[in-house]
Amino acid sequence: MTTPPEDDAPWWRDAVIYQVYIRSFADGDGDGVGDLTGLADRLGYLADLGVDALWINPWYASPQVDNGYDVADYRAIEPAYGTLADAEQLIARAHEHGLRVIPDLVPNHLSAAHAWFRAALAAGPGSPERARFVFRPGRGPHGEEPPTNWRAHFGGPAWTRVEGPDGGPGEWYLHLFDPGQPDVDWRNDEVRAEFEDVVRFWFDRGVDGFRVDVAHGLAKDPALPDLADPADLTGASLPVGEHPFADRDEVQEIYESWRRIADGYPGARMFVAEAWVPSPERLARYVSPGRLQTAFNFDFLLAPWEPAALREAIDVTTGYLHGVGAPATWVLENHDVVRAPSRYGRRPDGSVDVALGVRRARAALLLMAALPGGMYVYQGQELGLPQVDDLPDDALRDPTWERSGHTERGRDGCRVPLPWTARGSSFGFGPDSGEHADRGGSPPWLPQPEWFAEYAVDVEADDAGSTLTLLRGALTRRRALDALGEGPLTWESAPGDPALVFRRGPGFACVVNLSGTAVGLPAHEEVLLVSDPLDDGALPPDAAVWLALR
Ligand code: NOJ
Repeated sequence: MTTPPEDDAPWWRDAVIYQVYIRSFADGDGDGVGDLTGLADRLGYLADLGVDALWINPWYASPQVDNGYDVADYRAIEPAYGTLADAEQLIARAHEHGLRVIPDLVPNHLSAAHAWFRAALAAGPGSPERARFVFRPGRGPHGEEPPTNWRAHFGGPAWTRVEGPDGGPGEWYLHLFDPGQPDVDWRNDEVRAEFEDVVRFWFDRGVDGFRVDVAHGLAKDPALPDLADPADLTGASLPVGEHPFADRDEVQEIYESWRRIADGYPGARMFVAEAWVPSPERLARYVSPGRLQTAFNFDFLLAPWEPAALREAIDVTTGYLHGVGAPATWVLENHDVVRAPSRYGRRPDGSVDVALGVRRARAALLLMAALPGGMYVYQGQELGLPQVDDLPDDALRDPTWERSGHTERGRDGCRVPLPWTARGSSFGFGPDSGEHADRGGSPPWLPQPEWFAEYAVDVEADDAGSTLTLLRGALTRRRALDALGEGPLTWESAPGDPALVFRRGPGFACVVNLSGTAVGLPAHEEVLLVSDPLDDGALPPDAAVWLALR
């Protein structure tokens, strides 16, 4: 057991949080899958990078249908990642390095292998065991049609039929994601009590907070109405609060109860909501007083590389969040979206101008780190790693690939194991298979392309012009400068301008050039950091600069 820092200061209001996709971060035992030993060995790297905390994707025991977002036991660690004792030790060691730890909480659904779901199947219709889930008879003369027309996020219907007590076809259960991820019914008291207990279980073990998976999806309309637009999974097509499973007002009560639990612990324990909602106004509800403290700003992540879109995503969201006293939480990458260099460098024909994309992603990092609030960095983002677009079909593991009938390739391209060294059979992700033939030396669970060598940590660490060096520099400055982190932002550019120019405090400015030509810089005392070398004192296209002002 370990206690987090006792300090009650709301550290999460301007923290830099590094997202560890544990499966792909570092493989300590050579089985091809990242693990807690691999992560523990790299805590020094993360502390040196200058981050304040780690968000760790689901580390619980799981059949790994959706890489851990299908939890079979919320109080046990996935054996491929380690043991509960390893997790406790990791939390303690991270704290020794000054890093807070935020695991993922997956409350919308659990795994079909979870004891509760197995009990529900065994107990049959009408049982209290089934009441923890959303089981319903089918429609049609023989119940052969699903109870609603809802679609699952990964493709196909959101319902799967189970066997009836007589061995024939029986009821259907709801799964907004894969059939291996049955949704629980949040109107059920046992469900509420169980998750409150899970939250306490991990707070007792010293975690500093939770990232809340599918925070917008827990509450369902008990009437289970059909959707006029079955493809609308986030509530964009209906008046606010009326979608049967997206962003319903009732979810907030759940978060109020968790917040009370968090506030009962020493130190400042926090939550960050993954809430895909139709508007920033709705997002603000999740972080209103007494609820979750932070929520990812996905409008910023989704904004194209255009000044007006970025500025609007910055202004509108911060406006609503500040209105309820919450900080902004910036994010540009995670394990569900195409990596920034590939997003920003995508040509109309689908191919990627990697050099352009990397330039823009570096500029975006400086932009994000200069904004008021907290920010997240997804593993590999510090290296400027592009998406792996050409994984072979038979390597794909994202359930989206199968569930969409091989029409959607899914998210594996941003989940390829990290390159730590330019050499070695797995670019240093695992022990070199040559050295550790005795351990089996399995290849990484997703194949790494040859070009990963260019982005390896050991290459970038020694390169003054690398993205790793740029981010380290930015995070060092961010810690040192009072103007950064929380506080006011003042625009110096006008809304239609092709460059974004803003001041933080009296002495700091950030300029991002989103135009096709170099722009001159405002009067300044010193260039603190630049994402691409200045061209005769001017900022080239797709570059950003931090300036100390006179
Ligand atoms: C959001 C997670 O980020 C994603 O990876 C997962 O597939 C779904 N929620 C379902 O848990």
